[in-house]
Amino acid sequence: MTPLEYDRARIWHPYAPLGNPPPVRMAKAASGTDIILDDGRRLVDAVSSWWCVAHGHNRPEITGAIRRQSERLSHVMFGGFTHEPAVELAERLAAIAPDGLDRVFFADSGSISVEVACKMAVQYHAALGRPRRCRIVALKGGYHGDTSLCMSISDPDGMHTLFKGIMSRQFFAEKPATRLGGKWRADDISSLERILLENGDEVAAVICEPVFQAANAMWFYDAEYLRQARRLCDATGTLLVYDEIAAGFYRTGPRWAHERSGTVPDIMTVGKALTGGHITLAATLVSGKVADTVSGGSPGAFMHGPTYMANPLACAAACASLDIFGKNDYEAMSLGIGEAFRRELSGAECLPNVADVRIEGAVAVLEMRKPPRRDEIERTIDAHGVWLRPFGNFIYSMPPLVTDGRTVARIAGAMLDLAASPPGETDSSGFHE
Ligand SMILES: Cc1ncc(COP(=O)(O)O)c(C=O)c1O
Repeated sequence: MTPLEYDRARIWHPYAPLGNPPPVRMAKAASGTDIILDDGRRLVDAVSSWWCVAHGHNRPEITGAIRRQSERLSHVMFGGFTHEPAVELAERLAAIAPDGLDRVFFADSGSISVEVACKMAVQYHAALGRPRRCRIVALKGGYHGDTSLCMSISDPDGMHTLFKGIMSRQFFAEKPATRLGGKWRADDISSLERILLENGDEVAAVICEPVFQAANAMWFYDAEYLRQARRLCDATGTLLVYDEIAAGFYRTGPRWAHERSGTVPDIMTVGKALTGGHITLAATLVSGKVADTVSGGSPGAFMHGPTYMANPLACAAACASLDIFGKNDYEAMSLGIGEAFRRELSGAECLPNVADVRIEGAVAVLEMRKPPRRDEIERTIDAHGVWLRPFGNFIYSMPPLVTDGRTVARIAGAMLDLAASPPGETDSSGFHE
């Protein structure tokens, strides 16, 4: 068997069947915005390898930091030890986090950081003598990861319905309908308000992807929703959790998507671009009020501890990534990519199969009436040398934040070509992301 044949027969890929998956390509290397295949062809990574490769692939500053760290300390259990990269990273995250979120739990993936955020909220209420407050309110259209708790707070009609039987029951508020920057519709908040007023004594926290619902809906909603949510959480003693894993680190323009609202959450999760997409790491940032309450309760210890917690290689990579973020105007870079997409995709809304066009920061979305066909996706990728990964009815790009205008034009050309191609009837593009 060739390596590709072996892969096809034996190795699962995300959201794909074993044995007959959609085609996979053999990546040999990557550099800048490009993924380089074994036959030498280059594909522009128009989705930043699921939105994490913020500075481009294989940045020498980050690979160098990982190499140097590996010569000293590749790993040590975080139970009973600490190390410089973890301490440095915690300090630096606290410095750029929203006000007061200066307590840090390091997790090994975004999903785990969300699990930690929810468990922290439950343990907070338990410490205050409110053990009944152990459910989460999430938003329809949201996505927070694939582990069991994360599935239970992701869109209830999304891809996880098969697993309802093992999920804990949570509350779901309606997806906010007011578009980002649109005229605020007061009834947008009424669903969340009703849940908190009627069931607040069971709710530990409200969680949302602030402003940008990514992996399920590719939807940008108005920041007023967050102000209203903050007000309701304060009134009902509920914690507010922002999941900035997809939107954080300038993806939608500002460093944190929620900055537009002027609100501060009690807990926030970050991941993906944290290490510039070089190695897995996420973090749950927690306010002193929550951390002190958890620590002051029984058992005091926060009950979570992954084997690879605060892995030194990952922490060193994240510090190097934060250096790069600090040396460049990433907000301007992100907005510049948005401007280029706006130019290059103008007129897309006139294509018969395009239902809506949404562009914010370095995110460009064509919402289709019918999904693109699998063979058309493959043809487009090969013809344009642009790696796209449409899902559901969405053809979208979230390229590395260092992508230049010419490359954005190439990506937009590929998106338009695919959007104009004959559509499929049902989604055959891979269910997710
Ligand atoms: C908003 C959000 N939260 C959580 C996750 C889960 O992160 P991970 O895939 O690193 O577990 C994702 C992944 O796409 C995400 O977009």
